[in-house]
Amino acid sequence: MPTAPADQAFPAAAPAAAAGARDGRPILEVRDLSVAYRTRRGDVGAVEGVSFDLAQGEFLGIVGESGCGKSTLLFAIAQLLAPPAGITGGSVSFKGTDLTGLTERELAPIRWKQMSVVMQSAMNALNPVKSIGSQFADAMRAHGIDSKSDIAQRSAEVLAMVGIDAEHLRSYPHQLSGGMRQRSMIAMALLFTPDLVIMDEPTSALDVVAQRSLMIQIKELQQQLGFAVIFVTHDMSLVSHFSDRLMVMYAGQVAELGATREVFDAPRHPYSAGLMDAFPSIRGPKVALTGIPGRPPDLARPPAGCRFAPRCPRVQDRCLDAPVELFSIGDVLVRCLRAGNGVSSDD
Ligand SMILES: Nc1ncnc2c1ncn2[C@@H]1O[C@H](COP(=O)(O)OP(=O)(O)OP(=O)(O)O)[C@@H](O)[C@H]1O
Ligand SMILES: [Mg+2]
Repeated sequence: MPTAPADQAFPAAAPAAAAGARDGRPILEVRDLSVAYRTRRGDVGAVEGVSFDLAQGEFLGIVGESGCGKSTLLFAIAQLLAPPAGITGGSVSFKGTDLTGLTERELAPIRWKQMSVVMQSAMNALNPVKSIGSQFADAMRAHGIDSKSDIAQRSAEVLAMVGIDAEHLRSYPHQLSGGMRQRSMIAMALLFTPDLVIMDEPTSALDVVAQRSLMIQIKELQQQLGFAVIFVTHDMSLVSHFSDRLMVMYAGQVAELGATREVFDAPRHPYSAGLMDAFPSIRGPKVALTGIPGRPPDLARPPAGCRFAPRCPRVQDRCLDAPVELFSIGDVLVRCLRAGNGVSSDD
């Protein structure tokens, strides 16, 4: 049966088995974080009350349908939101400092050096009129590294880490393949060996083979260098292989959060179960992809009760009454009144 709602009493650190935790405090503590886009139709609550911890060196995967707030959450964590989006509540504590109160000037020493972000499209993130090398140099100079030889050496080093020859420091983004651009972005994110690398679908622009090899490289670097990763993807197969923990988001909220294996083997939220079923190659014999019928709710006017209720195959009257809290079931958090009964039960 579900125990007490976990929203208020969020554990200080996830259990080691679920978290892949190392010793010491989590490097990231996100508490009750909410973000809204201010629009003429009213506030769109794109992220609502998200809480989680990230242990040093941990790999957290985030999945969920388009529009569920994954990118908005990453931007909020990295303090990269721009109007009309703004944090409306909660905190993001990185190595003990709440980032939400910091000015740009105070954030500058943290960016790249301690926390870096890799976006979905390196073509958009890289400056098209500057060579890769000069973009790396800019980032290093911004952090006080001025020596030409130090810059050249470090740039070559990080490029080598992602399997690119140093001669490409002279290349412009358009001269590189999509895969090489993504690799260059990742190399740039590793210039200072940050403690946290935030990745928003870093491989989605690539073909399947390039995706795999880049993913393996990211994982190897992570294990070798020890940085933590928050990784957003639509690819359930990728997260199943590479994440320690998995967060399933639905309509701006955490629907389920737990050890990746546990969520895959026994998804407790009907939405997680639906996502897993939409990727049959992981869960068993191939069947027709049915997906999850219906659409996510309008986040300007979310349903009064469970946000998934309008699409839920197991909805009950009580699901419609009031917002549903997160429940702890073992080491997993689940936002479903029925989760304790198991989503496959018939009652
Ligand atoms: N500029 C904006 N104004 C109003 N609403 C916005 C704006 N940008 C995003 N949203 C809304 O915020 C919600 C979350 O968007 P977000 O881009 O974070 O989703 P996502 O999970 O990253 O989707 P995807 O998988 O497509 O990248 C969506 O419902 C979207 O409609
Ligand atoms: Mg996105």
